[in-house]
Parts: sequence; C-alpha cells; structure tokens
Amino acid sequence: MRPDLIGSEGFLRDCWYVAGRSEDIGRELTARMIMGDEIVFFRGESGEPIALEDACPHRKLPLSRGKIEGSNVVCGYHGLTFDCTGECVIAPTQLDNPPRRAAVHSYPVEDRWGFLWIWMGAPAKASRDDIISIPNFDNPDWGKTPKGAMQMACHYLYIIDNLLDPSHVAWVHLTSFAGAGTDSRPLDLEETENGVIVSRWISDEPAPPYYQSMLPFGPHCDRKQHYECRLPSTAINMSVYTPTGEGGADKPLSPNAFVNISYNFITPIDDQNAMYFWFQHRNMHADDAALSDRMFDGALMAFNEDKDVLEQVQRGMATRKTPYLNLGLDAGAMRFRTRIARAIKETAA
Ligand code: FES
Ligand SMILES: [Fe+2]
Repeated sequence: MRPDLIGSEGFLRDCWYVAGRSEDIGRELTARMIMGDEIVFFRGESGEPIALEDACPHRKLPLSRGKIEGSNVVCGYHGLTFDCTGECVIAPTQLDNPPRRAAVHSYPVEDRWGFLWIWMGAPAKASRDDIISIPNFDNPDWGKTPKGAMQMACHYLYIIDNLLDPSHVAWVHLTSFAGAGTDSRPLDLEETENGVIVSRWISDEPAPPYYQSMLPFGPHCDRKQHYECRLPSTAINMSVYTPTGEGGADKPLSPNAFVNISYNFITPIDDQNAMYFWFQHRNMHADDAALSDRMFDGALMAFNEDKDVLEQVQRGMATRKTPYLNLGLDAGAMRFRTRIARAIKETAA
C-alpha cells in the first residue's frame, strides 16, 4: 500500500456515486467497473435504469456479452435470463426446473441531475434522499455547461487532494484559473458535517483568463476560491467574483457577484483508476449556449492538465526513493483523508 493512503484503504460503499451521464446508458448493455465490481448497465422497456452484477451465476460469462429482452438480460452462453432485481426468471435448458440459487446482485440506481447514480452498499440501506441536492438546478436564471466525463489513471483520493487545493492553479492552470494571489494568499480551513472546505478571498486583483470575458465588471475584482469536498468523493468548487471592495469573508454575498459552481463527482474504478464527472453552474448569462460551450472547453482543457499531473503523481507516489511530505496547502486534503478513513472504519465495524 502506498504510505500516504494507509488508513484509507478500501472504499466507502454505503454511498451514492455517479455511474455515468444519464444519456450514456441506454438500450444496450454497457459494462463498467466501479470499486472493483464489474457491473452491467442498461435501460428497461420504460427507460428505467438497471444495474446488475456483470457475471452469470452459471459459468460467469459477463452478462454484458448477452442481450436485452424487454426489461431482462439474457446470458449469451446458455440463455439464463435475469430481471431487473437480478432474479433468474427463465432457464431455457430446464424450463420446468429453474435453478433456485441463480441470482445476481442488483444495484439501486437513480437518474438525478442528468447523471445516473448507483448505490454501492447494501441495497436495504439505500435512501434516494441522500443523493446530493443542487440548489437552483431548475432556476431559469442559472446556466449550465454540458456534462463532462473523464477517466484518470490514479487513485481517486489524488483527485480529491487536487480539488481541495486552490494553490495548484497557479502552476497547473496558467492559461485558465491562475491569477495573482492563487500561489501564496493564506487559506481558511473549515470542517463541515460531511467534509471540509478550503477557501480564501483574494482582493483587488485582475480576474484570471477563464473568467475575464464573463464578468460585467473589472478588470480588477475581489475573488473567492471555495473548494469543498463532501464524503465520499463529491467536490464543489465555487468561484465568486465581485467588483473590488464588495467581496470578503466578513460581508454578505454581493448582489453583483458572479458565481460559478463546478460540481465534480469522483467514482473509483479500482484503487488505481477513477472516473471524473462534472458540470458547471453559473448565476449569469443563463441562455448563452456559446458561453456554456466555451466554459466546457476551458474546463476540459484544465482538467486534462490535472489528469496529466495526477497520473504522474500516481506513478511517483509508488516509487519511494525519498519519503514524501505534506505542505501547509495539504491541510484540507489531509483532514478529508482522516474523515474518509474514519467513515470507512465505522462502516466496516
Ligand atoms: S454461463 Fe450463463 S447460462 Fe451458462
Ligand atoms: Fe486543477
């Protein structure tokens, strides 16, 4: 085990994770691995999402190699047929005597916020009310970017580290999010009920390149970086820009504030790979589709910069010529690791 991940081994299973964008799952069998589980996804006749263990109980052929019939999946080897609950409903080679123990695990799934969510723990514990709420999702004054999906060849907690680290933008995202103060201005750390927030206000500096054309004020402004992570692996990165003098931790949110919230959902594939899903939500220019596309392209470029770094971090942390160290900027990420380790331990108890 990588020394930095000791204590956070395994995954928090009693949680909802994003399995994909809703439109990625349709009337064809789609195989995905989540937390080491091989899962087959498809939609039933009414469009309802279905997720089953991707292994026929007979000879373990992946069910994703079979076919859909109605709302059932038929194994491609000898035709055992499973319904959406994972129960075997037809055994064509012994119609009068279906095998009683033939069943596969069925995962609770739910379409919400344009994504397909999956509950990776015991189905009886799943409560659909626990899926994250997204304020203003249906508010016509708020605009959304398209949804992104990206695979990264690294442990999912390295992505969380990155999303609790407002400083890296000064080195990694030079043409998008970097700006004066992102390298050295002091960070505030707050622990919440289910995670941590790392934040800071940067006063009276030019907006970074990504935001310059969106702001109805400037060129100088006050800027807040609000980096929040919630268990198990949701990151809410909020950028707030106000005219100079209207921002600050001691002031209510200015009515002139431009707010852009990046919702990031990280889903472990295994302990060396993860999926990264996101969209951005802003309180201005709601109907500007060209801006939404431009923001999507800019974020995609920046997240590819992160991917490049994090895949090298994954490789580098496995080779221990000299011990690794933490810096002050890692305080939020380390606090989150403690929280996740405690939660994993509690659910294992
Ligand atoms: S392997 Fe699926 S029915 Fe035989
Ligand atoms: Fe980044």
